[in-house]
Amino acid sequence: MQKISSVQLTESSLVYDEVETATSPEIPEYLQKTYWWAYLHPRSVRFFEHQWAVNLILWGNFARLRDAALDEMGQTISGRSLQVACVYGDFTPQLARRLAPTARLDVIDVAPIQLDNLRRKINDDNKVSLAHQNASALVYDDQSFEQIVVFFLLHELPSDVRAKTMREVLRVVKPGGKIVFVDYHRPVWMHPHRYLMRPVLKTLEPFAMDLWEREITDWVPDEQRPSEVRKSTYFGGLYQKVVMVR
Ligand SMILES: C[S@@+](CC[C@H](N)C(=O)[O-])C[C@H]1O[C@@H](n2cnc3c(N)ncnc32)[C@H](O)[C@@H]1O
Repeated sequence: MQKISSVQLTESSLVYDEVETATSPEIPEYLQKTYWWAYLHPRSVRFFEHQWAVNLILWGNFARLRDAALDEMGQTISGRSLQVACVYGDFTPQLARRLAPTARLDVIDVAPIQLDNLRRKINDDNKVSLAHQNASALVYDDQSFEQIVVFFLLHELPSDVRAKTMREVLRVVKPGGKIVFVDYHRPVWMHPHRYLMRPVLKTLEPFAMDLWEREITDWVPDEQRPSEVRKSTYFGGLYQKVVMVR
């Protein structure tokens, strides 16, 4: 496991005090260019790290979507789980609360500031480990995890990074293990937010429309087809949960 970088933050710029291994990932260009305002600047982290803020962005559906993902993993979660990318709000604390006494949770993120933020929320829970990794190049061995959760990450990734991430999560989950994705989806045609969300997503989240136009399974490599795929939609189809069983 890599060491996580310690991070020194100033108001005007991010200064990463690197104490990492040579293989620590750099912050990808798409994240710096497209999402700096959401995930990389200290003021953004302070602003978005409120339950009401994430709930507002999801039109009041945060708790419902969080619980849809967590219920899929179990009321009590056993074995080793992986959360791919940090999430604002109480997603990870709620997930950690469900871990059985011998269970473990690994959370990875490519942005050290996000890992620092999460560390404050989990209060030294020794069942949870954080690691600075890129979702598209995980350092875990094949078949390491019983279950994996990917909450609103796929729509933020350029298509090629999304394909690599899909390959990685299918590689590190155990046979019979589950991967739970929750993300955007094309709403039904009469959805009141449909015509609002399209320009919002196109402007702020340029890769998100992929998930309106294609199925998440389109990014699964042919040689890694899961044994089972289930999809449910929420809030008039604006959101989806896709569960893959390897
Ligand atoms: C899970 S997504 C969106 C979550 C959701 N919008 C929320 O409420 O927080 C945001 C996280 O993904 C991380 N991220 C983006 N690209 C990544 C990658 N290639 N590997 C790992 N983490 C990544 C960002 O640093 C950020 O912490």
